[in-house]
Amino acid sequence: MSNVRPESMQRINNEELANAFIAEQTKALKEQIGDNKVLLALSGGVDSSVTAALLIRAIGKQLTCVHVNHGLLRKGEPEQVIEVFRNQMDANLIYVDATDRFLDALAGVDDPEKKRKLIGKIFIDVFAEEAKKLDDIKFLAQGTIYPDILESDGVKAHHNVGGLPEDLNFELVEPVKFLYKDEVRVVGKALGLPDSMVYRQPFPGPGLGVRCVGAITRDRLAALREADAIVREEIGKLEVKPWQYFAVIPDMKSTGIKDGKRYMGWAVVIRAVNTIDAVAADSFDIPTDVLFRMRNRIIAEVPGVNRVLWDISDKPVSTIEWE
Ligand code: XMP
Repeated sequence: MSNVRPESMQRINNEELANAFIAEQTKALKEQIGDNKVLLALSGGVDSSVTAALLIRAIGKQLTCVHVNHGLLRKGEPEQVIEVFRNQMDANLIYVDATDRFLDALAGVDDPEKKRKLIGKIFIDVFAEEAKKLDDIKFLAQGTIYPDILESDGVKAHHNVGGLPEDLNFELVEPVKFLYKDEVRVVGKALGLPDSMVYRQPFPGPGLGVRCVGAITRDRLAALREADAIVREEIGKLEVKPWQYFAVIPDMKSTGIKDGKRYMGWAVVIRAVNTIDAVAADSFDIPTDVLFRMRNRIIAEVPGVNRVLWDISDKPVSTIEWE
């Protein structure tokens, strides 16, 4: 099948066009899949969520979604995937909490590329193990979108976790492969996905793993997850939100003082950027009251943290993520 977006394809920028796309794809998916079964790795990101919702519309329970929790998801993410897909959309959803497997393997690993590779490899292993437990799966659905095809030879963006388990021999189903990101969002909204999923800010496949700098420990990761939830909640209240905003926890401690005694605690870094394409990015000018509210909450609510910093660096030279 061609990997070039048909020239006749209109830009999907409203509900009517989204509904027409959904109707057309539903029909095409039914034809392609017939009575067969389809498997999908559902991360909860925009692309895989819209792919899942489209397939649920077309083939219902012939689709099995596997949501692998690698222990590096943000606060509330696995719960949201279960709520939306299992409870609201009545999908077949296998939830695998593989946190221990990932975090045990990552213990002591501080090299960023090794961390990424390990997370990617275990992800594929876990997914393949789940796939092998299921009978008669013929197709593998993937949330490939058009920029993935343009940028990386049709493989889901190079630094996304996941990929096709090579020994499983599935045929591919890629219903949103000719859509740009903004179109995927319009389609997701028309399919009834919640705004918090459809307008989710970009989140790396290796998740909080790239923001828990150095060798990941469970306690520092837990502090990062809480601090990140506070940053997302407070900056998320702004009328005009930056493109990406999150917390980072460096692998260092500095002195704090509590009840007249000195102690060592972690520092949390707040990062918020605006960008068009993630190739270059400007640090977002966070209003002072929001900064101070985040500082107060992080210090009060996140055990082990005694310092809050704001990363005001632009890209280049600083990348958006810290690893
Ligand atoms: P950098 O840090 O290179 O990030 O300025 C550019 C954009 O890519 C995202 N990013 C990742 N996404 N897996 C992903 O799926 C990764 O390993 C990864 N690293 C960076 C980052 O969040 C930003 O939006």
